[in-house]
Amino acid sequence: MIEILNEKIFHLYNEKISYIFYIMENQQLGHLYYGGSLGAITAHDLAYFLERENKSAGTVKFSPDSGLFTLADRSQEYPVYGTSDFKEGALDIQVADELWYLDFQYAGYEQTAVKERSLGRPASYAYSGEAETLIIHMTDADHQLALELSFSIFADSSAIAKSQVLRNKGDRDIQLNKMLSGVLELPSADYEFIHLSGAWLKERHVKRRSLEQGTVSIGSLKGASGHQHNPFTALAHKQATLNDGQVYGTNLIYSGNFLAQAEVDEWQRTRFMVGIHPTHFSWQLEPEEIFQTPEAVLFYSDRGLNGLANEAARFTEQYVIDRKWAEKPRPIVFNNWEATYFEFDQEKLVTLAEEGQALGMECFVLDDGWFGQRDDDRSSLGDWFVDTRKFPNGIKAFAEQIHQMGLQLGIWFEPEMISPDSHLYEKHPEWVVRHPYERAAFGRGQYVLDFSNPEVVEAIYAQMKTIIEETQLEYIKWDMNRNITEAYSTYLKTTGRPQTEFFHRYILGVYHLYERILTDFPDILIEGCAGGGGRYDLGILFYSPQIWPSDDSDAVERLAIQSGTLLGYPLSSFSNHVSTSPNHQMDRYTSLKMRQEVCLFGPLGYELDVTQLKDTEKQAIQANIQFYKQHRSLLTHGTFFQLLSVEDTTNEVAWGVCNQDKSEWLIGFYRKLAQANPANIEYLKIPMIDQTKTYWINQTEQVTGSMLKEIGLKKPYQFNGVNHEQMHVSGDFQSTIYHLKEVR
Ligand code: DGJ
Repeated sequence: MIEILNEKIFHLYNEKISYIFYIMENQQLGHLYYGGSLGAITAHDLAYFLERENKSAGTVKFSPDSGLFTLADRSQEYPVYGTSDFKEGALDIQVADELWYLDFQYAGYEQTAVKERSLGRPASYAYSGEAETLIIHMTDADHQLALELSFSIFADSSAIAKSQVLRNKGDRDIQLNKMLSGVLELPSADYEFIHLSGAWLKERHVKRRSLEQGTVSIGSLKGASGHQHNPFTALAHKQATLNDGQVYGTNLIYSGNFLAQAEVDEWQRTRFMVGIHPTHFSWQLEPEEIFQTPEAVLFYSDRGLNGLANEAARFTEQYVIDRKWAEKPRPIVFNNWEATYFEFDQEKLVTLAEEGQALGMECFVLDDGWFGQRDDDRSSLGDWFVDTRKFPNGIKAFAEQIHQMGLQLGIWFEPEMISPDSHLYEKHPEWVVRHPYERAAFGRGQYVLDFSNPEVVEAIYAQMKTIIEETQLEYIKWDMNRNITEAYSTYLKTTGRPQTEFFHRYILGVYHLYERILTDFPDILIEGCAGGGGRYDLGILFYSPQIWPSDDSDAVERLAIQSGTLLGYPLSSFSNHVSTSPNHQMDRYTSLKMRQEVCLFGPLGYELDVTQLKDTEKQAIQANIQFYKQHRSLLTHGTFFQLLSVEDTTNEVAWGVCNQDKSEWLIGFYRKLAQANPANIEYLKIPMIDQTKTYWINQTEQVTGSMLKEIGLKKPYQFNGVNHEQMHVSGDFQSTIYHLKEVR
């Protein structure tokens, strides 16, 4: 997968992609190509593509004896601002009041085929023979710095993973003000910048805008990747469509503050970068200390947005999420939150669990309110011991009851938070993230715990461990309900570290708690959550195979949330819960049919008062669960396709998922508003179906793949004012599931 030509040109390639960089005249690293595979190449072939010197007036030469060479018009691997390149760079270093103009020159390379999964830090991993990594050593002799640039390529994937390590080889402290993880330079600006943005209750909607000269960026400064923007972004060629054309994607295996940006220069070339957000960040590097960036991943597809989504999903399932979760079926969860909120006791929960179990659910998740003395969201975070008013016989006895029903048990924690009204706060007010100013912002009645302090992480872990052991816990829901403000750590102050390291150290503390739990309890399934989808990223997915994607459980809103999420992440990475109608976030009425059919795609759950259901509703739930169990593997790990549009602007949404040889498909069709006087027949084309096969549709009719591709599935017959007897769907919020199976 890696070839090196004349120790000057480095070519990472497989059957899908080629990635090429080279040593430029000034000994720095130039970028040459990322795109469809070129196969094996020669240095001679490449000479044709090498960049020309720029003759335009006004450029600044690199040095007096460098001819016309300037960095301004060169595509680079790890650019820095300040010499002859005027775009924003990836790295900024300062010593006292002096900003350094860095000059990293090639100093050698090494190769490795080992990419182990290590719980200490989230990163991609691979088993033997699946990945190769090239590490390029660069040195800046004047500033006594060593930089390692690491590039990994993976079997059967378009991804290139990049990370960097900087070492201070000098004898004084340096201050790292910016160190991004992923850079991709493209020779054109004919792209749309696509990002997944929104807010609480409407996370990860697809947004797109054309690149123009200048910079577009998104990011987070909230201490978490955030509800508002997601670290997955893409550049789609302006001619790219859903199934065709060139698209690049990037993501960051990180959960804290991030920046993703695309800058277009005067020659209409694009610099795409992602990494830790430089605002409110700097890191002090003492002699011989290193700083390691989180890993960034680049993706490429020439099959449009669906191709990109397939690449991102496959990579995440195979090389980021712990692969053991691909083999274990994800349990169908019953979560009591929207069923009870804080109003419950053991008896009520047991009744719900029994009812859920009878309907086919497999894991009972006890949500917020079981600990301390928490009857609302104003108290007890940090006191992770059971509330004996609600569980008079203790949590162990409750867990035993749940297990005796044949259910797994899950418990909600919000490990990073502390309520002012808690024993923990009384004992350790200094563990709160808070500036010594009089005034500190307050969110949802709680403060954030200082996870940059290892003692805090350890104390929370000790409490969680007791509960996990007592309850023989199978599942944790790990919530995080407020953002970080007045970022200040008493611990950092006492250890002499700059406060600007806080955000990154905080997230490393979060990862450390994950590491502690999963080292001692490797089989626990941890579901990530942050007030819904406020921390949905590859860092969390490294530890948590699934994340609660949004607090909005409304079926219509979910169409946009799930569609957006699926552009960058796999189906298996988010859980969907069927909730009541009218919906608690939207006050919207939708049918149980639609609610269940939207939730089918991904790990399934229920979150409503099942004791209030009518018999017909119970039967519908039982039937849906039975159907889900039959198709669970397809619905969680199948290959997903958008059939109409990834964006939320259309009245109709259609999702398809198929198995590896495309012999089986499930297709969900959803229409938000009914149409007046509709056509008597409308079709839904399946462009990526296997044309050589013939399929059963819902076990009743046979149709060839070619017909499904060229003509399509018949959309459900709508009510047209008179056809009461024949129509399949009527009224707003319609849905239909099609099952296609190869005729053998
Ligand atoms: C926010 C989560 O997203 C909800 O599902 C629920 O767990 C509440 N927090 C509990 O406080």
